[in-house]
Amino acid sequence: MEKLILAIDQGTTGTTALLVDRSLTIRGRATVDFPQHYPRPGWVEHDAEEIWFSVTQAIRRALHSAKIDPKRVAAVGITNQRETTLLWERDSGRAAAPAIVWQCRRSSEICRELKQAGHEPLVRRKTGLVLDPYFSGTKLTWLLRGDPQLRRRAAAGQLAFGTVDSFLVWRLTGGRSHVTDASNASRTLLMELRSCNWDEELLQLLEVPPELLPRICDSSEIYGTTRGLEILPDGLPVAGMAGDQQAALFGQACFEPGDAKCTYGTGAFLLENTGGAPVESRNGLLSTVAWRLGGRPSYAMEGSAFIAGAAVQWLRDGLGLFKSSADVEALAASVPDSGGVVFVPALTGLGAPHWKSEARGAITGITRGTTAAHLALATLEGIALQICDLVKAMGEDKGSPLKRFKVDGGAAQNNLLMQLQADLLDLPVVRPQMVETTAMGAAMLAGLAVGFWSGTAELKSSWREEHRFDPRMSPQVRGELLQRWQEAVSKA
Ligand code: G3P
Repeated sequence: MEKLILAIDQGTTGTTALLVDRSLTIRGRATVDFPQHYPRPGWVEHDAEEIWFSVTQAIRRALHSAKIDPKRVAAVGITNQRETTLLWERDSGRAAAPAIVWQCRRSSEICRELKQAGHEPLVRRKTGLVLDPYFSGTKLTWLLRGDPQLRRRAAAGQLAFGTVDSFLVWRLTGGRSHVTDASNASRTLLMELRSCNWDEELLQLLEVPPELLPRICDSSEIYGTTRGLEILPDGLPVAGMAGDQQAALFGQACFEPGDAKCTYGTGAFLLENTGGAPVESRNGLLSTVAWRLGGRPSYAMEGSAFIAGAAVQWLRDGLGLFKSSADVEALAASVPDSGGVVFVPALTGLGAPHWKSEARGAITGITRGTTAAHLALATLEGIALQICDLVKAMGEDKGSPLKRFKVDGGAAQNNLLMQLQADLLDLPVVRPQMVETTAMGAAMLAGLAVGFWSGTAELKSSWREEHRFDPRMSPQVRGELLQRWQEAVSKA
C-alpha cells in the first residue's frame, strides 16, 4: 500500500489539507474556510473550535475526494498562520479565551508603553522582532492583564498557551503533546533567537507565567502520535511543523543562504535564508528562525506587509467591485495605467519596514475620471510597491541586492500582479509549478522526520519553474510610480 504524507495548512481565512506522495505529487486536497470575527475596529479574533472544525473537515474531504484510506498516511505535517495566540484549558482542551489573530491591533497600547519605558532595544536584540502588536507576546499580556481569573489559572498551571501549531498538535495527539517548533516560537517575543529557548527576562517583561509555555522542538521530528480522532486512526506520527512563511521558504527549496521567496496570501511575506546565524536589520526588517533541523537553527530575514490579497478582498466585499478575487486581473488590465491613483493598503497598520500600527489605508490622486478599473490597478500596484520597500530594505541590510525572486501563494496566480512586481523591482520574478509551497513545506518537514524522503537534496531536485516574468517597464515610469508611492505612504 503506497504511503502518503498529510499536510495541514491552517491559514488566516481557511485550512487546506494536502495528501502528497513520494514524488511530491498532490493526491488529494481540500480547503475549508472558517469565520472571522471583528468585535471592534482593528480587532480580529478566531474561535478555536471553528479553527479545529475547519481542520477536521479539510482532512475528511481531502481523504474522501481522493478515496484514500487514512491508514495510508505515513506522517502528519502542520503549518499555520503565525503569531495568532491561543489559551486553552489543560484538562478539558477547551479554549479559555478567543484566539487573538496576528492582524489584531488590541495590544498597541501595551507596545507603546513598553517602548516608552525604553525596552525596544532589548527586545530587538534578543528576539530579532520589534514591539508591534503583530507578535504573540503582547497579545498574551493583554489577555492576562484583563482577566485576573485567567492569570491565576495560568500561574497555577491549569492553562496552556500556544500558537495554532501547538493547539493543533495538542488536539491531534489527544492532549498528550504541548509543543511548538522554533520557527513559530521565534514569533512570540518570548524566545531568545540564538539559543532557541524561552527567555526569563522577556517572560518577566511581558508578565507571562512560564507554566503556560509549550516545549520548543525542531521543525522536523516526531512530536507525538494521533489519538482519539474520528478522522484519522490512532498512532500516526505528527512529525513536522513550521510557521506558514517559513514552511513556504522550505517548500520553495530555499535551503541555501541568499535564497528568497515572497508569498502573496492575506498579507505578503518576503523571506530570505541567511544561514546559520541571524542577521540584525538596521532597516526595520525582522530576524526569525526559518527552521530548526537536528538541533541546528537556520535563520531568515523577513519583511512582512500585513495586507496583500486582503486588499483585493476589500475591493470585492467592502466595495462590491467584482464577484471573485480573480476578476481583479481583467478589471485592472482594462486600463493602461492607474490614472494617477495610488492605494496604500495599510488597512491594519503598516508593517515592515515602517512599523506604524496606527497607520490606515490611503487612496490618493482620485479625480472625476477615476473608475473602478483605475482603483483595481492601483491596488495591484500598491501590493507590489509594498514589496519593493521590503526588497530595498533587505538589499541595504545585506549590502547586496536580491538576484532572483521566487513567488507563491494565491495572488501569485495573478499574472498582471507578477508582471507589475517584476517591473517595479526591476528583477525577474519566478513562479514554480508547485504553488502550494506552504503545505508542501510542511509535508516535506514531516516526511523527512519519518524517512519518507532521504534529505533536502532529493526535495530540491523536484522544484520546477513554471513561469518567469522579466521586467519591461521603462526606468522613467518606474521612477514616477515609486516617487508617488513614497508620497502616499507618508500620508497613510
Ligand atoms: O504572520 C502571519 C502569517 O503567518 C499569515 O499568513 O497565509 O495565513 O495569511 P496567511
